[in-house]
Amino acid sequence: MQQRIVQWWPMGIACVVLGGMLWWKQLPAAPLSPAAQLGKLIFHDTSLSASGQQSCATCHVASLGHASARGLEAGGASFQHPGERNVPSLRYLSFNQGLQWDEEGKASGGFFWDGRADSLQAQAGEPFLNPHEMANTSRAEVVQRLQASNYAARFSEVFGHGIWRRPDQAFDAMTSALASYQTQDPVFRRFDSLFDRVMQGQAQFSAQQERGWRLFQDEEKGNCAACHSAQAAADGTPALFTDFSYDNLGVPRHTAILVNAKATHFDRGLCKPQQNVCGAFKVPSLRNVAVRRAFFHNARFDNLHDALAFYASRDTDPAKWYGKASAKFNDVPKAYQRLVNTSEAPYGGKLGESPKLNAQDIDDLEAFLHTLTDADLLTTVAAPRAATAPQRAEVHAGR
Ligand code: HEC
Ligand code: HEC
Repeated sequence: MQQRIVQWWPMGIACVVLGGMLWWKQLPAAPLSPAAQLGKLIFHDTSLSASGQQSCATCHVASLGHASARGLEAGGASFQHPGERNVPSLRYLSFNQGLQWDEEGKASGGFFWDGRADSLQAQAGEPFLNPHEMANTSRAEVVQRLQASNYAARFSEVFGHGIWRRPDQAFDAMTSALASYQTQDPVFRRFDSLFDRVMQGQAQFSAQQERGWRLFQDEEKGNCAACHSAQAAADGTPALFTDFSYDNLGVPRHTAILVNAKATHFDRGLCKPQQNVCGAFKVPSLRNVAVRRAFFHNARFDNLHDALAFYASRDTDPAKWYGKASAKFNDVPKAYQRLVNTSEAPYGGKLGESPKLNAQDIDDLEAFLHTLTDADLLTTVAAPRAATAPQRAEVHAGR
């Protein structure tokens, strides 16, 4: 008997250790704080909008990398306001900071395409009150709706029982909860794409992806990494594929944006004329770009291939993108057209010359960009684009 116990106890311990390890692996990285858990509920709550039908998640869809299928999303109490800017992805944004200018006058940081919000919390207050989005008329109105939600009791437990008597504080607590959710929930920073696994030595690129990766970094060819940073940060944060800086690409005008019917209307982006940045927009992360259905601040392109081909031949074959060569940079006010970036690769080249990136290069770059897709979105990428068209018609008819 004595001997048996001696033989069996090491295995017993091994089982407990192994079991413990498996159990540990299944635990989420870190549980969300109570505020972040509330932020998640708020993010998905349509009752906080004037229409009663729109939440943050309506426009920022998780299965699309927290961006939208159509790019331009209508809003307002009866969805009467069509969208004017592309819905950006919310992933990897917690690594961004407020807008700042360096000594050379170069801007970086800031939230929105034009950097006007200084933090995720500041940003989160805007959609609730924006007449083109969730369209409440005051902070108090939003707080009233919040107080009527089924998690109101939880909210006052976390933020204090007197919170409903101070609508401004309640509103701030709500926006900080939204920021906590977007910062803490690992879905917003998964870092589990094929690219990440290749960088960790756990997978390999195909030959075509490898060619694309080289072009992406080649300063004479793609030069993409000059703005869409491709190196891990000093603190070990994997590459974000943006440096959160700004540039003026001269993206063609998008006539589907209804306000553009007025020829004098322009979206000027980060427009600080003294700094020469009119028409500049924030560099978006290219993580999950293969999942996107609308590209650039004005959602002018509906597929990745065209977005890349535009970079390649904007200057050598402008008629292809602007209708005619003389209409080049038609979405930038005349006075600011000189500010469009024409000096760095992949731009430049003269009319009729062959572009720095040929058709094969574009295919290779596209193949590389597909390696930046988070593991949870791989099924989305496979969905054919045509599949979204009927859904599009339905939603419009429904509104
Ligand atoms: C009607 C669609 C819509 C709704 C609803 C909406 N957003 Fe957005 N969101 C957008 C658009 C469009 C932009 C870009 C606007 C701009 O740059 O001016 C944006 C920008 C953002 C940004 C900045 C992204 C960046 O790259 O800097 C964040 C963060 C964000 N939204 C979070 C939220 C949160 C949180 C909510 C809910 C409170 C919300 N959004 C509701 C459409 C929407
Ligand atoms: C000089 C800086 C710069 C360089 C170089 C650059 N980009 Fe960009 N990229 C930007 C900016 C700024 C935007 C947003 C512009 C806008 O919307 O007006 C952007 C947008 C994009 C988008 C659209 C993403 C979205 O979510 O809408 C894609 C795709 C893209 N870039 C790919 C590339 C590739 C591939 C290369 C290299 C061939 C490249 N970029 C080189 C600055 C740059």
